[in-house]
Amino acid sequence: MAKGDPLLVLKNLRAYYPSKKGLVRAVDDVSLEVREGECVGLLGESGSGKSSMAIAIMGLFDKVARFSAGSSNDPELRRAFSKGLPGSTDLPGVRGKIIFRGKDLTTLAQEELIAIRGRELSLIPQGLGHALNPQHSIGHQTAEPIEVHDENFRLIELKRKVLEYLGLVQLADANLRFVLDPGSFSGGESQRILIAMALIAGPYLVIADEPTSALDVTVQRQIMNVLKMIRDDFDVSLLLISHDAGVVAEMADRVAVMYAGKIVEYANAIDIFHEPKHPYTQGLMSSFPTIAMMQMRAGKKPRLRGIPGDPPDLTDIPSGCAFHPRCQYVVDICKTEVPEYREVKPDYFIRCHRWGDIEKE
Ligand SMILES: Nc1ncnc2c1ncn2[C@@H]1O[C@H](COP(=O)(O)OP(=O)(O)OP(=O)(O)O)[C@@H](O)[C@H]1O
Ligand code: SF4
Ligand SMILES: [Mg+2]
Repeated sequence: MAKGDPLLVLKNLRAYYPSKKGLVRAVDDVSLEVREGECVGLLGESGSGKSSMAIAIMGLFDKVARFSAGSSNDPELRRAFSKGLPGSTDLPGVRGKIIFRGKDLTTLAQEELIAIRGRELSLIPQGLGHALNPQHSIGHQTAEPIEVHDENFRLIELKRKVLEYLGLVQLADANLRFVLDPGSFSGGESQRILIAMALIAGPYLVIADEPTSALDVTVQRQIMNVLKMIRDDFDVSLLLISHDAGVVAEMADRVAVMYAGKIVEYANAIDIFHEPKHPYTQGLMSSFPTIAMMQMRAGKKPRLRGIPGDPPDLTDIPSGCAFHPRCQYVVDICKTEVPEYREVKPDYFIRCHRWGDIEKE
């Protein structure tokens, strides 16, 4: 595959959790392409479905959703996976296509998926809390992605490779500390270890879910520098998930904006940050001072205003365009018809009934 070829293609992806209040439509008809060698940013407010999309791509969504439904006391939730929830025609779980290097991951057997996960496709999960096993040394855990896929690795080679990758992410004194368990490492160091784990098997695509948000500002900057080094020096594509537009602006070639489980705008980063077309993206950008500064430097007149109201409950998404109760451009059709996700010019996707008029206003 050459730079620019499609690597990951999502087609009408849906991922629904069962919950006591009904189906949580966390990922709702998402179509998106990530190409060889590019960094795609996925931006959206908390609860918009970003992590759900990441775990669906990794083939872990059903397991997570079943686990939370199974640990509930409600027998209806436990049955929901096979029969759906009462009153709903949709089933919980993942629907649609996840095409990675030409194969639809949703059709693969578990063994085939395990062979891909961690080796060709890896995830730096959100939140450092549960990501590392407190019982095992970090050297052991960093080696895991290659040990799982290649049992013939000699111990000495394994150690050399682990130290090479812990060195690449600049973990201080890695050669002395790789025998220690995760409790001996700070948040920033743990994030470096998780990045090394995600890279060690030489994946084609790394999904980084909020890689900087659990860290303080100085450490965030250091982790950003590690991620930039990966983007520039490794032959890998990145899907960078964040609710922070500043983080995405520094890294991404293209940016997808997510609202209530749907991608509402997907375009190159310069257009998204300098001249967003979707009313939600416009509001989102106006709530980040760093983006407003960037727009000002480019000769635009930004106003820091944010978006009125709150994001919807994903068990009860507003009819039509989910953003309509918060949108200053709302017209009648927005309240009844879900806008189509359309490619309005090459590589520019938008989901809004009024995208053309709003530009002229
Ligand atoms: N295991 C689960 N069971 C049921 N609902 C869930 C589960 N995990 C997440 N959700 C719900 O799915 C929706 C999307 O959550 P998700 O974690 O994907 O959002 P997010 O965009 O990653 O948010 P954040 O920026 O806070 O990480 C939310 O309404 C959330 O409450
Ligand atoms: S479809 Fe209508 S409500 Fe939705 S963003 Fe566009 S103008 Fe606003
Ligand atoms: Mg998340």
